Amino acid sequence: MKTSSITATFLALNGAAIAAPSESNIERDLKAFQLTKLTASLYDQSLPAYRIVNFDLNDPNNNVDTSCSSAWSGGMSGDYKFNCSNPNYQVNFPSLYDIEDIKLNVSVVNSKAFAPGEINGDKWKCENTGAEYPSKVCKWAGVYDLPIVLA
Ligand SMILES: *[C@@H]1O[C@H](CO)[C@@H](O)[C@H](O)[C@H]1NC(C)=O
Ligand SMILES: *[C@@H]1O[C@H](CO)[C@@H](O)[C@H](O)[C@H]1NC(C)=O
Repeated sequence: MKTSSITATFLALNGAAIAAPSESNIERDLKAFQLTKLTASLYDQSLPAYRIVNFDLNDPNNNVDTSCSSAWSGGMSGDYKFNCSNPNYQVNFPSLYDIEDIKLNVSVVNSKAFAPGEINGDKWKCENTGAEYPSKVCKWAGVYDLPIVLA
């Protein structure tokens, strides 16, 4: 009994290993999106509070440059997709309550390519402005690489 179930498990795993390469397009060699002038600003002096996230986007695989600007307020879904100025590129924010730790997801319309990322850490410089609008601003120093995965 025990032996046969181990054999069955082995066969199942082995089958999966053989099947994987033929149905895989995961190994295509895509270069990461490059984000520059990445900034986020928090506007929270009146409700609903909202956040504006801006960046320039370079897609080295398709030789496309565009810019993306999004105004996200707390009531919006993390799935809501903002168009970049080239509407083939879109961005949504799985998490954007705290602009010091942002989850974003850039995707290409009618393609399997998307690029999820989390922006935080030492290169993400945030400061309270002392002003009402915006009350806090964060900037990324240099280029932010956003690796692409395929759905
Ligand atoms: C994004 O662009 C597409 C195609 O141009 C358009 O149909 C859609 O309404 C736009 N979405 C938003 C939120 O502006
Ligand atoms: C990112 O966008 C892709 C394409 O629309 C979608 O399939 C995927 O679920 C999104 N991921 C997140 C975490 O929002």
